[in-house]
Amino acid sequence: MIPYGRQDITQTDIDAVVNVLQSDFLTQGPMVPRFEQRVAEHVGAKHALAVNSATSALHIACLALGLGAGDWLWTTPVTFVASANCGLYCGSKVDFVDIDPRTYNLCPQALERKLLQAEQQGRLPKVLVAVHLCGQPCDMQAISALAQRFGFKVIEDASHAIGGKYQSEFIGNGRYSDITIFSFHPVKIITTAEGGMALTNDDALAARMALLRSHGITRDPRLMTHEADGPWYYQQIDLGFNYRMTELQAALGVTQMERLDQFVARRHELARRYDQLLEGLPVTIPWQHPDSYSGLHLYVIRLRLDQIKCSHREVFESLREQGIGVNLHYIPVHTQPYYQQMGFKAGDFPEAECYYSEAISLPMFQTLTESQQDKVISSLKGILL
Ligand SMILES: Cc1ncc(COP(=O)(O)O)c(C=O)c1O
Repeated sequence: MIPYGRQDITQTDIDAVVNVLQSDFLTQGPMVPRFEQRVAEHVGAKHALAVNSATSALHIACLALGLGAGDWLWTTPVTFVASANCGLYCGSKVDFVDIDPRTYNLCPQALERKLLQAEQQGRLPKVLVAVHLCGQPCDMQAISALAQRFGFKVIEDASHAIGGKYQSEFIGNGRYSDITIFSFHPVKIITTAEGGMALTNDDALAARMALLRSHGITRDPRLMTHEADGPWYYQQIDLGFNYRMTELQAALGVTQMERLDQFVARRHELARRYDQLLEGLPVTIPWQHPDSYSGLHLYVIRLRLDQIKCSHREVFESLREQGIGVNLHYIPVHTQPYYQQMGFKAGDFPEAECYYSEAISLPMFQTLTESQQDKVISSLKGILL
């Protein structure tokens, strides 16, 4: 089976992890800060906090921004559930904004309309999670202008987008948001097995997230309520978690970062080749906004169902039967049973639901070969034509 995504691990990566295993620290050593510094420098952020998943990063980001009971978090329905669940973890309510039919990202015009309504009803969001679906950045300039006008905070869920650019600058530099999140799950662009990161230019947000990542415990005398009892002393000054990344993961992250730009460039080569090979087929290929250089975590096609004889499901199943590990990103979150219990229902976000009825993620990862890519296309042609 050709998977839709997979990690790219070299001997250098393996050696880096083995070196850590033979070193003094398996956790809480020098590698995590090194990895953080490496990513922060690369993308141009002041602070980077490595954690054990992007889900954890989203959670502490929301808490650091003060999200709590009675607040609203808004995001796109076309995302992994974690982008919305982080609001529920904090006891807030969650709502969605429909997608732009061209980029599949949260639509800034739909956002503005919903904000105007919410303003009248006194239910403006406190936090918006803008998800860069497939690696293509959202229209961050428009979103940031709305954030200033309506007074909400912005988290960029860039789980798909490390190495990508918005307006020629690396995603993660925080120009248009408060906090950016990356994921390092193996299907993503670089991996630490499990792992994530929260980046910000705000000293106070970084300090709060650092505290929350490790039990709410500090060893910094300036933060303590009274003088230390002795050199062993620490204080718990907040309710935090154990969301720490290990040294093994961070070592892998450091060596993976060496190849980040190469990985993204290869993904672009593959995407251009898909674009050409798919020409003339009854599918819509991913549209790229001229302001964006996508991280290209995913390559999603949409079937033109009015031009083909089989159903979306039949095309998907037939590709899987032929050894093509296609996938679907994502089932709109508001249609999940857990969210339907909150009152969401099919029909609430029509663009997202239309996307879901047509989308298929084709294999996209840096070690995908041209012959594998040809097999994907020939299978697709056999089904569609
Ligand atoms: C958009 C998005 N946000 C968040 C996550 C959660 O990432 P992690 O698996 O690192 O917790 C994912 C993972 O697939 C994702 O795709």
